[in-house]
Amino acid sequence: MGLQPRDRWEFLVVSEQNLKSVESHFAFGKNWASYAALIDEPRIEEATRGLLKLVHAEEFKGRSFLDIGCGSGLHALAAYRLGVSRIMAVDIDPDSVATSRSVLAGSGARTPWRCESMSVFDLDPARHGTFDIVYSWGVLHHTGNMWEAIGKAASMVAPNGLLVIALYRRTRMDPFWKVEKRLYAHAPRAIQSLVRATYVAAFRLATLVTGRSFRNYVANYNSSRGMDFYHDVHDWLGGYPYETALAPEVEIKLTKLGFEAERVFARPMSRGIFGSGCDEYVYRAATV
Ligand SMILES: C[S@@+](CC[C@H](N)C(=O)[O-])C[C@H]1O[C@@H](n2cnc3c(N)ncnc32)[C@H](O)[C@@H]1O
Repeated sequence: MGLQPRDRWEFLVVSEQNLKSVESHFAFGKNWASYAALIDEPRIEEATRGLLKLVHAEEFKGRSFLDIGCGSGLHALAAYRLGVSRIMAVDIDPDSVATSRSVLAGSGARTPWRCESMSVFDLDPARHGTFDIVYSWGVLHHTGNMWEAIGKAASMVAPNGLLVIALYRRTRMDPFWKVEKRLYAHAPRAIQSLVRATYVAAFRLATLVTGRSFRNYVANYNSSRGMDFYHDVHDWLGGYPYETALAPEVEIKLTKLGFEAERVFARPMSRGIFGSGCDEYVYRAATV
């Protein structure tokens, strides 16, 4: 549901509570619906490689898999290819859910799977059960309350299971990006196009100055989890709500919840001129 004309400026005073509702969110699902047309075998293979960087192949076989914030459904599909026994995929955005359903259905996945419109905050281990692998890549920082969302995702992990999450790394430009995203997410399409064109031009200039090839960068972009540069630019510029984290904060939070780090791919705080990359965390739940 979009903002009504009389509500048009209400996003500027949106309360923290409202930030958890889909109405205050960027239209991620529309971007995923457009991206899904690009999904082909090489992208599925890249997405599969992206999962294998985080979790060993044998850990997928016969395990249950929960994808929180499934987006296009590409990584749920990759998990199916890796032999999981059951998939549940959820996303707060109905457009993401429709796209994920069509991607999974179109793949002919024989593993039992379900895909629902649901917020991470409505997941309940007593109702939905727990999962051997809980995967949430690039999602929990967009929920309106990242730390509560991390706690919710963690509560869905079965004993000795894995929590696999990616979170935006803190940058010095976070306050700027927060305002930019809030404005972009609610701006008319023409303004969004203009902002995107400016961002891409600046990025192009930066690659030129640093002696890299913009063309090669874009052409090889799908080696990043099967993604697409131009869809990711839209996602980055509009991805609101927006929060960030650093690895030591994540360590404190997850250790308190009884998890232990297995693999962490994190970097220190950066300037964040073109954005903030995602740090990836793989934590194991306690046995009991
Ligand atoms: C940047 S996309 C990441 C998609 C996918 N995980 C991937 O790696 O390609 C973030 C997704 O999180 C979803 N999302 C945002 N807030 C959510 C919430 N509270 N509960 C569930 N999904 C949410 C968005 O709708 C969007 O599809």
